[in-house]
Amino acid sequence: MIRLYHVTKTYRREAAALQDLTLTVHPRQFCFITGPSGAGKSTLLKLLIREERPSSGQILVTGRNLDTLAARQLPYFRRRLGVVFQDFRLIPTRTVYENVALLMTLQGVPLKERKRRAFEVLRWVGLQNRMTAFPEELSGGEQQRVAIARALVNRPVILLADEPTGNLDPELAHDIIRLFQEVNASGTTVVVATHDKGLIATFGGRVILLDHGRLVDDGE
Ligand SMILES: Nc1ncnc2c1ncn2[C@@H]1O[C@H](COP(=O)(O)OP(=O)(O)O)[C@@H](O)[C@H]1O
Ligand SMILES: [Mg+2]
Repeated sequence: MIRLYHVTKTYRREAAALQDLTLTVHPRQFCFITGPSGAGKSTLLKLLIREERPSSGQILVTGRNLDTLAARQLPYFRRRLGVVFQDFRLIPTRTVYENVALLMTLQGVPLKERKRRAFEVLRWVGLQNRMTAFPEELSGGEQQRVAIARALVNRPVILLADEPTGNLDPELAHDIIRLFQEVNASGTTVVVATHDKGLIATFGGRVILLDHGRLVDDGE
């Protein structure tokens, strides 16, 4: 579960990027967060992984109060989340396979299991033939799919994706959302930030609408 209570986020002295947001995303829910550029979608996702901290208000994610979460608990907390960053954040010196398998290596997952899971998710995103390529050899859409595979490989409790289809053609974008729906059906809570109205019109479900940092519609 994700819960925000009266969350405000102000970067330096600008207008609030998020203003008094109160919101619950239930376990196993699938929801879109939408709104125009600058609405606060990315800020909201960054708060949920504690990459940013709110100026005021409280946030609960997987039963943790992010305000009181100690720095040494952060890796364990984040391990349970799958995150697709808007800018991918792939490691340029590692292959596709290594980018996807790296976290499992750090966690001590046995080699055979690492390979099995990495191959599986790379097949899901259609990159089984690019495993030995480096990120710079890939198109933007392929890099995006590596980022998606990496987010799924750990079977996260919550999947958070920021514009995960931004570099994909519509057909592939639909495939990715359908994949997220399958992941959701297996028990993962999924939150997708997108400004793509077509995608939302196609898939529907719960749509949380932000504008200028304010909650316009919580979709429930
Ligand atoms: N690191 C930052 N420093 C200062 N302002 C920021 C930062 N990140 C986002 N903002 C501002 O916060 C607002 C919301 O941005 P963002 O969360 O990226 O919106 P969206 O993802 O919906 O486009 C915008 O006005 C943006 O300029
Ligand atoms: Mg954004």
